[in-house]
This record gives sequence, C-alpha cells and structure tokens, in this order.
Amino acid sequence: MSATIAVLGGTGPEGFGLARRWVQAGETVIIGSRDAKRAQDTAAKIKAAVGASARVSGEENIAACAAATLLVLTIPFEGHAALLKQIKPALRSGSILVDTTVPLAASVGGRATRTLGVWQGSAAQETAELAPQGVPVVAAFHNVSADLLNAVDPVECDVVVCSDDPQAGQTVRLLAAKIPGVRAIDGGKLENARIVEQITALLIGLNIRHKGHSGIRITGLPAAAYGG
Ligand SMILES: NC(=O)c1ccc[n+]([C@@H]2O[C@H](COP(=O)([O-])OP(=O)(O)OC[C@H]3O[C@@H](n4cnc5c(N)ncnc54)[C@H](OP(=O)(O)O)[C@@H]3O)[C@@H](O)[C@H]2O)c1
Repeated sequence: MSATIAVLGGTGPEGFGLARRWVQAGETVIIGSRDAKRAQDTAAKIKAAVGASARVSGEENIAACAAATLLVLTIPFEGHAALLKQIKPALRSGSILVDTTVPLAASVGGRATRTLGVWQGSAAQETAELAPQGVPVVAAFHNVSADLLNAVDPVECDVVVCSDDPQAGQTVRLLAAKIPGVRAIDGGKLENARIVEQITALLIGLNIRHKGHSGIRITGLPAAAYGG
C-alpha cells in the first residue's frame, strides 16, 4: 500500500494495536495525538517492538493528517465531533477517513455495554456529515478487540467494512487483511455501520460475562467474500 497511514489517537490501545500490526506488515504509519511528544514516544515503542526497519513516526493530530492520505480515527466518542472539526482543514480531497468509533454510553458516564443514539444513525455517519466533500468515510475495525491486536497471535476476528464509496471500501479491506488472522468483508453502505458499531457493545458484555476477548466470524459466504 503506497499511502501513508495516520492513526489519530494512536496512543490508545486500539490505535496502538492497529498501528503496530500495520508497521509489522511494512506499512508507513504516523501516530497522531493531541500531544506531539506522546505521539513520538508511542512511535518509539512500536519501533522498539518491530525493529529498526519500522517506518513509524509521531505527530500532533493535525500535522499527522496533513502528512497522510489514509486517516484512521481511534479516539473515544466523546472527542469525536470536536476532533473532526479540528482536523477538517487538514483533510485533502482524495484522502480516506476510516472510523473505528463505537458510541458507547460510557462516553457520557453510562455503561460500556450500551450504545448511545447518534442523530445521524451512527458515529461513522456523523463523521461523513462532518468530513469535507471528496473525503470518503469508511467504517471498520469496530469489532476488533485491542487486546487481540496487542497480542502476538493472529487476530481471531472478521472486519466488516462499510462505505458509500466502493473504491475506498476496497482500499480499507486490503488494509484490514494485512493483519494476520483478519478477514475483511464488504459490509455494504455506510448506514450499516450502525449495526456493526452496536455489536461491539455486545462483545464488551460477553467479555465481562465470560472473562475473555471476543471477536466475530461471519460464516457461510462464498470464498470471494472473504478475499478483501
Ligand atoms: N479498545 C478496544 O478494544 C476497541 C475495540 C474496537 C473499537 N474501539 C474504538 O476505538 C476507539 C479508541 O479506543 P481506545 O480504547 O483506544 O480509546 P482510548 O484509550 O480511550 O483513547 C484513545 C486515544 O484517544 C485520544 N483521546 C482521548 N480522549 C480524547 C478526546 N476527548 N479528544 C481527542 N482525543 C482523545 C487519546 O490520545 P491523546 O491523549 O494522545 O491525544 C487516547 O490515547 C474508540 O472509539 C473505541 O470505541 C476500541
């Protein structure tokens, strides 16, 4: 993949796990943070884990956006709209905005096993409303646990990818498939993100009940559906 990937909020467990997996796969990644030093320290941790050939650096979120064309949002829902407004001027037409955000009720002091109603239908659709024209939004990675990403084993989870832009969706499916164990599946239109986001609240509940790190596997589709 020739695009540089910026992982905004890559200092947290989900963004860190995705970034480390992609750097391991040979991708070029910029960790984004509200604090440039925190981003650089996180990038150094990934470099230490992956090795000297790792192509990873750290920048404040806006600078990270300006230097990349594949932008992955991995911040909690409470900061979602504000960050999108902040980065909007740095988003270039043709860039792809990938949203992993689950609108958990924990964002407003509620339970992590429940989701909030989002006026637009889903966090990803809110992103689409706030993104500039020419920047397609792709919803993905909601059901992949940070614990699985940050372990060394292949990740036992399928990634359902939703977008109104088929080409952007395909680019993100190829990116997802770079994570060992992950199968990326075309989940159709962006509005389907509403359902995918909600599955995560169920998975969190299962993790609490059964003390594990659950993921999802979609069965019964033709082999081509799992092909990226
Ligand atoms: N954790 C999981 O297993 C998991 C699984 C699937 C999906 N997700 C989704 O992935 C996203 C990130 O999850 P996470 O567990 O990594 O979250 P997190 O640790 O709470 O936050 C990730 C990073 O976001 C930045 N951040 C925090 N509050 C912010 C705010 N108000 N405005 C802007 N930036 C803020 C912080 O980075 P700086 O302080 O460095 O800026 C933080 O390190 C969430 O939307 C979550 O629903 C998580």
